[in-house]
Amino acid sequence: MVTMMQSCTVTKTISGNIENSDILVSLSDFQSGSDDKMEYKKYIIINNDALKFPICVYRINENKYNALWLECTHQGNEVQVFGDKLQCPAHGSEFSNSGLVTNGPADRNLRTFPVTIEGNFLKISLKAV
Ligand code: FES
Repeated sequence: MVTMMQSCTVTKTISGNIENSDILVSLSDFQSGSDDKMEYKKYIIINNDALKFPICVYRINENKYNALWLECTHQGNEVQVFGDKLQCPAHGSEFSNSGLVTNGPADRNLRTFPVTIEGNFLKISLKAV
């Protein structure tokens, strides 16, 4: 069911660390390039056996990250990430990088999780899963 349409050099997949009902992600996972020319990935994917679906974390800027549950709100297929947007391969629903539905048949936004920055880590609250 999962087909990776993007090369591995573009999409970074990590498992993260689940502690209680939070998942912790190191901010360094978004970094690429070297110290004198630091670059940041637009997003990373968290794929953890404890989660039924992956979570995509978009880096909007250094203070804002969006964590999106990749379960299509139409009929529950796995949504795929294409740069700044997400698309469901089942019936073509599309979502923005904040999880808003931009194209049906889905009529609800993707589930999102609160993200807080704590030191060098992102803490994503999974309480709603
Ligand atoms: S399940 Fe995603 S568009 Fe139908």
